[in-house]
Amino acid sequence: MIVVEDLQKQFGGFRAVDGASLEIAKGSITGLIGPNGAGKSTLFNVIAGVYAPTSGRVIMDGEDITGLAPHELFHKGLLRTFQIAHEFSSMTVRENLMMVPARQSGETLWNAWFGRARIRGEEKALRAKADDVLDFLTISHLADEKAGNLSGGQKKLLELGRTMMVEAKIVFLDEVGAGVNRTLLNTIGDAIVRLNRERGYTFCVIEHDMDFIGRLCDPVIVMAEGKVLAQGSAQHIMENEAVIEAYLGRGLKNKVKAEAAAEARLHESHGAQPGLGDESGNGFGAGGPA
Ligand SMILES: Nc1ncnc2c1ncn2[C@@H]1O[C@H](COP(=O)(O)OP(=O)(O)OP(=O)(O)O)[C@@H](O)[C@H]1O
Ligand SMILES: [Mg+2]
Repeated sequence: MIVVEDLQKQFGGFRAVDGASLEIAKGSITGLIGPNGAGKSTLFNVIAGVYAPTSGRVIMDGEDITGLAPHELFHKGLLRTFQIAHEFSSMTVRENLMMVPARQSGETLWNAWFGRARIRGEEKALRAKADDVLDFLTISHLADEKAGNLSGGQKKLLELGRTMMVEAKIVFLDEVGAGVNRTLLNTIGDAIVRLNRERGYTFCVIEHDMDFIGRLCDPVIVMAEGKVLAQGSAQHIMENEAVIEAYLGRGLKNKVKAEAAAEARLHESHGAQPGLGDESGNGFGAGGPA
C-alpha cells in the first residue's frame, strides 16, 4: 500500500532519516520501533507531508505522493493523528469529532461561507456519525465533556476517533500509548484491531511499549540511525542480535551475555536447568536506550 524508497531527510547537515526503504502492506498493522532519535517520527512526518524529503520517494497504491501537503494526503485517506490543539480543548468531545471533515479538508473561508446551508444540513448526519464513533470507542459517556478535561489516554482515543470521521485507508499513530494507563491502552489496542478487521484500516504504529507492539503488530520494522535495521514478526525482531545491539549498545550486550554465561555455569554446577528468565523481560527498555 505504501512503499518508501531510499528516503532521506536532513536537518542542516544532520540526516535524521538516512536512506530508509520499507513497505507497509495493505491490511497490516505494521509496527515501527527503534531507539530514541532513530528517525521514526521524522519518517512519519515525511510520509504524511509535514516535511518534504531531502531525497527519495513515497508511493501509495502505485501513485507517487512524495511531497504532497497533509490535506491532499488526507483526501487520499492517509492520516496521521495529531494532539488536540489547545484552541479545541474548550470544545466538547463530540464537537471535536464533528469538525474533523471540514477542518481537515483544506476548505477555504469562501467555501465555508457559501457552504453554510449545506453544512447545517449535514450537521445532523455528522452528529450521528460522531456518536457512532464514540460508541465504537466505548467513550459515549464523554460526548459532552470538554476535550481539555480528558485524561491522556482518553485524548488518544479521541485522536483515533477523528480518523473515523472520514474515509481513512491508512493511519499513522505516533506513540499512541505514551503515558496511557494499561486499561486505556488495551481499549486503544482493541479499537485499532477492530478498525483493522472490521473497516479495513491499515495502520503503521510507532510505539516503545514492546508488549503493545508484540500483541498488535505484524510485521515490525526496526529503525536505527535513520535507517531500517530489521523487519519481521515481533518474535523474530526480539531475538535479532542487531536489534538488541541497537537498543542496548554493544557494551551492554556483552555484559548481558557475560552475565547469562555466568548464570548458566552456576546452574550447571548445581545441576539445575537455566531459567527462562523474567516473563516481562523482553530485552528492551520502555523508553529506548538509557
Ligand atoms: N525539526 C528538526 N530539526 C532538527 N533536528 C530534528 C528535527 N526533528 C528531529 N530532529 C532530529 O532528528 C533525529 C530523529 O528524530 P525523531 O524525532 O525522528 O526520532 P524518533 O525515532 O521519533 O525518536 P523518539 O523515539 O525519541 O520519538 C533526532 O536526532 C532529532 O533530534
Ligand atoms: Mg518520535
